Amino acid sequence: MSEISKVGIEKIGLYIPKYYVDLVDLAEKRGVDPNKWTIGIGQEKMSVIEESEDIVTMAANAANKILTEEDKKAISQVVFATESSIDFSKSAASQVHRLLSINKFAKSYEVKQACYSATAALLNAYNHVKLNPEEKVLILSSDIASYGANSGGEVTQGAGAIAVLVSNKAEILELSGKSLALTYDCYDFWRPSYREYPLVDGKLSTDTYINMFKENLEGFMEKYEDSEDSLQAFLFHLPFTKMGKKALVASKEDLGEKYGKQIDQWLDKYEDSTRLTRQVGNLYTGSLYLALISQMIYGDLEAGQEIGLFSYGSGAVSEIFTGYLAENYRDHIDVEDIKDSLNTRKEMSLDYYDEEYFKPKYIENQDREISLGEDVEGFYLEKIEDGKRYYNHR
Ligand code: CAA
Repeated sequence: MSEISKVGIEKIGLYIPKYYVDLVDLAEKRGVDPNKWTIGIGQEKMSVIEESEDIVTMAANAANKILTEEDKKAISQVVFATESSIDFSKSAASQVHRLLSINKFAKSYEVKQACYSATAALLNAYNHVKLNPEEKVLILSSDIASYGANSGGEVTQGAGAIAVLVSNKAEILELSGKSLALTYDCYDFWRPSYREYPLVDGKLSTDTYINMFKENLEGFMEKYEDSEDSLQAFLFHLPFTKMGKKALVASKEDLGEKYGKQIDQWLDKYEDSTRLTRQVGNLYTGSLYLALISQMIYGDLEAGQEIGLFSYGSGAVSEIFTGYLAENYRDHIDVEDIKDSLNTRKEMSLDYYDEEYFKPKYIENQDREISLGEDVEGFYLEKIEDGKRYYNHR
């Protein structure tokens, strides 16, 4: 492990919405064999939001779990990664900045490149903190993955937010500085500004993901020859839990001669990193970081071990980077809170889901007072007036 610098992830917070849809029940309602969804795709439940939730409330609730007053003074940037943006101009970061009373000299902005953008923010934050070791950067990933009722992508929906605090006190993951990105220009998944839901070419999207992983991996291993034997596990952006495995299996077929032994080891550790996604669904920008949390909770990796991370955002950009697990990294995640959030969730009725959930959220005028559920807590959306969103806390 590098002795000179400990720049990387100091804290990580997860917000999971209170409601979920059971995918076995939904498969039956849709006339699909549930095994296709639970085994073929690898999903059991998907998180869905309430009317009083949006990307701002989810991000604020995730960050509120981890930030101290000292952190709020040291943060110099609040970066909001999302592909569920609610405004073409004003960034959701400025709202979270106010809700959490982060110091006024922090800059706040939103970034976009499908599910990849949080990784761009993380690696930029790494460079920034290397140059400015007293400063911290808060990265918020918050998304509502929705494809619409009866759509091909319905089983791969989800919602939630992850807050990552980057500093020179990497208590969870010290970033190694090793990274290699890759860009293709393609339409595998896209959402033009007039669309409520994305358009997706499912086959192209899975093929592009797999091909970019293979090409990115080969390039990365050539660039950093010392990584060939050091990466103990690989974490993936997980639109659904089978996706990373498909990329590993395909890579073994093509690159097995060179990296077969390592790929077998990554396959061995893979399931631990997918357990939360199986229960929550696709978090889009936060998905890779949900895999990190899952690996921390359910995995058996040791401090000091180097892990690889594969970030993928349709359109398409991918990046492989690595980091070293910090000493006692498990002590820096609130396992009880995460398990409690999962265990106390309530099931959304399929009638409500079909009749109400897919009412337009983005394209039509949304001005309204929000009717609050009894158990709403934390930050919530109170009303929308003239397109302005008003938030509150309880
Ligand atoms: N029992 C067990 N398995 C079954 C089964 C059954 N009864 N019936 C089918 N299956 C298996 C199939 O054999 C297949 O397995 P393999 O992938 O191992 O071959 C698997 O279930 C899925 O079957 P299909 O490919 O036929 O599934 P589909 O046509 O319904 O499409 C999908 C799946 C493309 C993922 C679709 O849900 C979709 O479009 N999702 C949204 C896009 C997406 O997530 N793409 C992923 C890459 S893009 C990305 O990563 C960015 C992002 O976050 C969106």
